[in-house]
Amino acid sequence: MPPKPASLRTLLDLTSTTLALLTHFQSSLSPTATADASIPPPPNPLQALKACTSLLKSHTTTLSLLLLTPPLTPSAIITKIGDVSSGPLTGLVGAAVAEGELGDLMQAEVKVQVRRLLGAWGEVVGCVVRLAERRKKLEDEGGAAQAKKDDGPTEGERQAVLAATGVVWEACDALVKLCDGGIAGLVVRKAEEWRSVLLDAVEELKEWGDDVDDDDAEEGGSDGEFGDEDEMFGAANKLGKEDKELKEVLDKSVKKLKMVGVLYQALIKRRLKTFPSISPATAASAKGHKNPMTTLEELMKLIKSMPEQVDDLASAFYDLDADEAKTMLDKCCGEAKSAATLVKQNWSGNDDEFTAWSTKWVDALNAP
Ligand SMILES: *[C@@H]1O[C@H](CO)[C@@H](O)[C@H](O)[C@H]1NC(C)=O
Repeated sequence: MPPKPASLRTLLDLTSTTLALLTHFQSSLSPTATADASIPPPPNPLQALKACTSLLKSHTTTLSLLLLTPPLTPSAIITKIGDVSSGPLTGLVGAAVAEGELGDLMQAEVKVQVRRLLGAWGEVVGCVVRLAERRKKLEDEGGAAQAKKDDGPTEGERQAVLAATGVVWEACDALVKLCDGGIAGLVVRKAEEWRSVLLDAVEELKEWGDDVDDDDAEEGGSDGEFGDEDEMFGAANKLGKEDKELKEVLDKSVKKLKMVGVLYQALIKRRLKTFPSISPATAASAKGHKNPMTTLEELMKLIKSMPEQVDDLASAFYDLDADEAKTMLDKCCGEAKSAATLVKQNWSGNDDEFTAWSTKWVDALNAP
């Protein structure tokens, strides 16, 4: 029996409302959108996200099989798309926007990843549109007899469906990984990224300091066919041989910033990796004293801002401005000390190995 023309029409109508819904969801997930207090947060948002993601992945697999296997059956595809919209999509968006206990960093990351997943799902819906439109055209041109002989998707259509499905799978896997790692997993990853930015900046500073401007040195010759890169790109000022004060501040900066790198390592190991996974129970018990999430967010702000300050410190050096460099170094060391002190005690408020270590570390950093 040839597919009823109404079904292809209905399918095409559904795809356009679905794409509109996706656009609406995407905008509610934008970084500037405010949390929707009307959506009750699921009791365990990460579990809910993970469950919805797994479901979406399996629906996508089924849908892609429906698209690749002739004849195209609008009714089955309509059901599948409807199930996805009312089930996992609504659940994902709800869990991502609900005012909950995920914390700002995790919530922002979840929003980014859910948005990416919605975009990927939109591409799959786009494939449905193209397949359905081509058949609709056949039907309109040749009547039922033409539409009856459905040779299945063209090679191009097959590739598009497979590619779009693959992108959804990847986005699903990334989101499941994020949920499995929890807040601790995310903050550890971020802190490691910022630590390596910090260390790269320190290394650059050190190299700049080693590259002392030495007018007595032989000119050119050894720089190879393209000459001196610094001259070509008009690089920063060089540290003068006789600029003793600046050189002193530089050596001190490199030494102290390397210690900050060590602090990052200790914070990652002793505080970020050990951040308790959230559950309704921990959230409730935190009501009395300071919420660990608040402390974590303060800590992450400091961890993020120090590499930025090292950039400013580097600019001060390149401007050969010793006073500004000293100010920036003090500021950065001040933040490092705040970070060490903020989480002196562990997440249950007790002293542990890090407590004693951080006291010694602060003393060492203060040493001239
Ligand atoms: C905090 O430290 C105490 C004492 O060392 C330990 O018993 C407790 O399990 C630690 N809590 C956390 C959340 O690591």
